[in-house]
Amino acid sequence: MSDYPAMQARLLADIDSAADLDALEALRVAALGKAGGVSALLKTLGGMSPEERQVEGPRIHALREAVTGAIAGRKAALEAAALEAKLAAERLDMTLPADAAPRGSVHPVSQVMDELAEIFADMGFAVATGPEIEDDWHNFTALNIPETHPARAMHDTFYFPSQMNDADTRSIPGEGRTERRAMLLRTHTSPVQIRTMMSEAPPIRIIAPGRVYRSDSDATHTPMFHQIEGLVIDRGIHMGHLKWTLETFLKAYFERDDIVLRLRPSYFPFTEPSAEVDVGYAQEKGRRIVGGHGDDEGHAWMELLGSGMVHPRVIANCGLDPAEWQGFAFGVGVDRLAMLKYGMDDLRAFFDGDLRWLAHYGFGALSQPTLSGGISA
Ligand code: DAH
Repeated sequence: MSDYPAMQARLLADIDSAADLDALEALRVAALGKAGGVSALLKTLGGMSPEERQVEGPRIHALREAVTGAIAGRKAALEAAALEAKLAAERLDMTLPADAAPRGSVHPVSQVMDELAEIFADMGFAVATGPEIEDDWHNFTALNIPETHPARAMHDTFYFPSQMNDADTRSIPGEGRTERRAMLLRTHTSPVQIRTMMSEAPPIRIIAPGRVYRSDSDATHTPMFHQIEGLVIDRGIHMGHLKWTLETFLKAYFERDDIVLRLRPSYFPFTEPSAEVDVGYAQEKGRRIVGGHGDDEGHAWMELLGSGMVHPRVIANCGLDPAEWQGFAFGVGVDRLAMLKYGMDDLRAFFDGDLRWLAHYGFGALSQPTLSGGISA
């Protein structure tokens, strides 16, 4: 007959002083495991007489209970201590300045898009988006660009091979027939005009920034670039609204009051009349600085964006009555706007991912453009 109290005292003392969870687990296995000391005692019960078992049974079981309880208690204590240590080690001082060591920067294209969203939000415009993989109906047909228009030539547009997509057969809502629609990478943000007019009831005031694609590449053209589209649809909209909106936007964007615009008659299939908008600028230290009257001494005009009154056929293509709804639209290159304001001269560098370029031209990750705080701060 063993000295259970002495054995128990020894085991409990060991358990109590187990330094970590691994040591505790080793003790558990040594006592309660298959070949453990306490387990071995339990096995002796089988070879005892019933009288012996009546005496020894409860004693051995009590020993096992005591050891099991001690292990559970020690385990809880060790786990609590480990959590405490972890919490203490991971403590953060929330009063430290958040930009103690800022890493990374906001790309000028993102910055300019944020600036434009802020400027137009102040004028009541929402931000709309559309897919970069478009069909030719939204990208061309609905925008009144006929099959023969040069913009449709393979030279400019990235088409998907027609066997590669099964999405190019569309049922036309309300007409009960299907039509083949070639899929392509959108060549401009104008299809978002169509998508917005078809999904929202007027009045509409949106800008649509995003990526566009054309098969073109040199110092001022990249196969992917960025545009921002503007669209206003309401009753009684006229060119005066367009000019005021563009002037207000460009003054806020370039952060100067002497922005002078010249609206030059032009042609876009989706606007009638159409106007190309030029802005006055001066050449300073090899850089174009926007501002001033283009005909003034030392100044000239530079073409900046396309615009016009939305063509009645485009409005009708979207299911709206052009007799009731009119509007204006404009489209402008975001990369171009960034270059003019921040002085980069090679568009290709925008998309090289060169960390030195990004460090130089990038913006603080924690600063947000606001009209009150300075749009480019
Ligand atoms: N979508 C035209 C382009 O990419 C730009 C444009 C011109 C957009 C006139 C417009 C507009 O909304 O009214 O060249």
